[in-house]
Amino acid sequence: MAAEKVHLTKEKATLLATLYGRALDARSPEPILGDDMAVQAIERIDHDFTETGITRRSAASVAFRARFMDEWATGFLAAHPDAVVLHLGCGLDTRVHRLDPPPTVDWYDVDYPDVVELRRRLFPQRPGYTMIGSSVTDLAWLDQVPGDGRQVLVIAEGLFYYLDEAGGRELVRRIVDRFAGGQLVFDALSRLGLRLQVLNTPVRRAKARMHWAVDGPEHLLSIHPKLRCVTMLSALDLTGPGLPPGFRAAARLMKLVPGMARAAAFYRLEF
Ligand SMILES: C[S@@+](CC[C@H](N)C(=O)[O-])C[C@H]1O[C@@H](n2cnc3c(N)ncnc32)[C@H](O)[C@@H]1O
Repeated sequence: MAAEKVHLTKEKATLLATLYGRALDARSPEPILGDDMAVQAIERIDHDFTETGITRRSAASVAFRARFMDEWATGFLAAHPDAVVLHLGCGLDTRVHRLDPPPTVDWYDVDYPDVVELRRRLFPQRPGYTMIGSSVTDLAWLDQVPGDGRQVLVIAEGLFYYLDEAGGRELVRRIVDRFAGGQLVFDALSRLGLRLQVLNTPVRRAKARMHWAVDGPEHLLSIHPKLRCVTMLSALDLTGPGLPPGFRAAARLMKLVPGMARAAAFYRLEF
């Protein structure tokens, strides 16, 4: 099979870092996520992935975040096996294959057109699965998704900070208006978290710019009166098997710094 060339820049290039992180994890002796399709994908892409700046240690964090969001999504789909899933800013994440939902779930992977074109060449089709090539904030893409009274699960991993705030808020508002109910699961950075991104090597190397800061749930609940916050979990409070050695001790120290607990967090909103 011919090697795929990639010409991705800025925020699109960050998907190469997370893909490589999941592949390195899968190749490690004790994988956290075990995403073998990520390994197959990097083997087909003609690119020096070491340029992303991802190391074994940061790969573990990428895999840990993905597994954590997989667990939230799995819980939702077990309760709503006929849900619509909007996986926004999907990049080259193989989540639909990892979770392997029943064909009663309608799953939409959405990212920029050139990213989705590459996705189509790398990953197989499956029943109930649609890829949409569009900016998530060009809201015409939502017309392709039936808002037919079913529950919706919106997953946005590593996305919201790349959106401009007005566009991101309008996207959330339109989704809440379109569906009968559902959940939004995503990670977000506070203003402090955005400032600290100068220390994030993969983001710096991709020359990606971050715009939208979320300082806490109240910032999001004001988008729509139907929204409630189910969970806000600091990235420093993550637990579970596979946490890098020393993570807990370092996290305890970092939480002594004012604002650090909210710098990077996982949110689960419901409506
Ligand atoms: C850090 S990557 C995360 C990719 C994937 N969620 C993962 O975890 O591997 C950020 C992704 O957001 C996408 N993205 C950023 N802004 C976007 C927008 N306005 N519309 C669609 N996708 C966007 C990028 O193309 C990229 O795939």
